[in-house]
Amino acid sequence: MGDMSAYALDGKTAIVTGAGSGIGRGTALQMANAGANIVVAELQRQAAEETANMIRSLGQRVLVSTTDVTSSESVGEMMAATLREFGGADILVNNVGGLGPNPKKKTILELELEEWESLLRLNLTSQYLCCKAFISELVNSGRGGNVVNIASLAALVPYETSVVYGAAKAGVVSMTQTLAAEYGRHGIRVNCIAPGHVRTPIPEALYQGREELRAAQDRIIPVGRWGEPEELGRLAVFLASPASSYVTGQTVVASGGMTYFLTKLH
Ligand SMILES: NC(=O)c1ccc[n+]([C@@H]2O[C@H](COP(=O)([O-])OP(=O)(O)OC[C@H]3O[C@@H](n4cnc5c(N)ncnc54)[C@H](O)[C@@H]3O)[C@@H](O)[C@H]2O)c1
Repeated sequence: MGDMSAYALDGKTAIVTGAGSGIGRGTALQMANAGANIVVAELQRQAAEETANMIRSLGQRVLVSTTDVTSSESVGEMMAATLREFGGADILVNNVGGLGPNPKKKTILELELEEWESLLRLNLTSQYLCCKAFISELVNSGRGGNVVNIASLAALVPYETSVVYGAAKAGVVSMTQTLAAEYGRHGIRVNCIAPGHVRTPIPEALYQGREELRAAQDRIIPVGRWGEPEELGRLAVFLASPASSYVTGQTVVASGGMTYFLTKLH
């Protein structure tokens, strides 16, 4: 084989939020495969421990930090624990997000302010808090680094299921561009992934028993299937590795070619 070292993450430390499930777990495992040590920053202790065991069995070091990424204090504790364990971090994957505990199609007229604020906090404020803590640490220590934010295709095209989800994810795309512009000269790159449908527990549950809708969704995906968490993880590895050294501020759509959503979730 030729020299693939630019695609490796050997000796790097990667913080992956929400690494106890789905895309976060897939990304943590792919980054560990590429040689990184991993901080599993996750709310659910048991899920985090499961991911941690998988990482250990790949031969990499891991720190489990029970973290609530919507809390500034909790994010601060996670960064402090990362510094104690690994002496710093090189990569941040802002993966936590989603439609919240009651993922149901809702118009703006049905969406209460409380839910608007809580989903904005889960999807956008969480990324602000983690970016701030991570970038502050990089700037203080004079090190470069990489941020990979997870948005959604819903940031770029209408998604009738939730007005706040699309708005928050569009905020993630915008924050990616601004931070890339502000910190490029510090050796910090900031990129974003906008997934389409990925086989993780919540979307799987949403389509449970709706085989017709699922088949209709598959028909609008040019590759004819949903994505797997590790496929998103491999893209995150690329964006966090020296192989993408001239790429920053970008949002990469990973949707199997899908360019719009069919939403009939009520
Ligand atoms: N799955 C998809 O089809 C899809 C599509 C587009 C975008 N996305 C985005 O990808 C990301 C991951 O989605 P997923 O489907 O893998 O999610 P998931 O629900 O499978 O996993 C999310 C993880 O985050 C953890 N978590 C939740 N709140 C947290 C908090 N406050 N602090 C720390 N950890 C917390 C959960 O415990 C869980 O382990 C989300 O941002 C989601 O919006 C997913």
